[in-house]
Amino acid sequence: MNGTLSPLTSTKAITREKLKNQLQHAVFLLLSLPSLTAYAQDTAAQERTLLGETAQARSEILADRFQMELLSALNAAMAAQGPQGAIGVCASTAPMIAAQLSQESGASVRRTALRTRNPLAIADATEQEVMQSWATAPLDENGSPKRWSSWEGDEYRYMRAIPTMPLCLTCHGEQIDPGLSAIIRAYYPEDQATGFTAGQLRGAFSIRWDEATLLRVAAGEN
Ligand code: HEC
Repeated sequence: MNGTLSPLTSTKAITREKLKNQLQHAVFLLLSLPSLTAYAQDTAAQERTLLGETAQARSEILADRFQMELLSALNAAMAAQGPQGAIGVCASTAPMIAAQLSQESGASVRRTALRTRNPLAIADATEQEVMQSWATAPLDENGSPKRWSSWEGDEYRYMRAIPTMPLCLTCHGEQIDPGLSAIIRAYYPEDQATGFTAGQLRGAFSIRWDEATLLRVAAGEN
């Protein structure tokens, strides 16, 4: 019976062959794992960069609109009704614009400050840190309000400085008309947003995007 394999030997040989194949496969997988992981990480990083760029561009537009809509409402009210009437613009129009821009965009859009008039605008830790770095110089070397943006966990955050302009001093300055001051106090007993001078940081636009919203926006659904 020389030359022919016994059934037992042949099964063993096949099993060994199978094992060898499986081992080779496993080694191949193990060897390629780091590069697969690197590839996945690369793609995720690229996706984040793209989503961040989308968020950045949209935040710029949102902050522009917030600024323009609020300033024109404020200017019109100051001219038509004087500062006492214009308080309503800051008190109701500003939150309304913020809510409308948030709803339209899917982002959370608001104003915040280091010293607030409305306690709802109190800054969180990130906002405080960013604004502290801008406090005395809210404009960059080109004269534009400073910007900051970053991922924070699953959120993309954008901020833009709001400088104090001469127009703002009527209600946020060092000397506020006593009648006006009384009205402000009545609405905002915890007001801290006075004592500013022109050129100082008054506050910031703060815009936050969650990643799921950004994925929808980038996919063109929003
Ligand atoms: C007519 C008075 C008035 C004028 C003028 C005015 N503000 Fe205000 N400001 C207010 C009131 C009232 C609030 C509180 C609004 C609210 O309830 O959200 C406020 C709130 C703010 C906030 C939100 C943070 C906080 O302190 O609650 C910022 C930022 C701000 N003002 C910036 C400005 C800037 C910049 C100007 C000038 C372009 C300006 N304001 C002019 C009355 C005024």
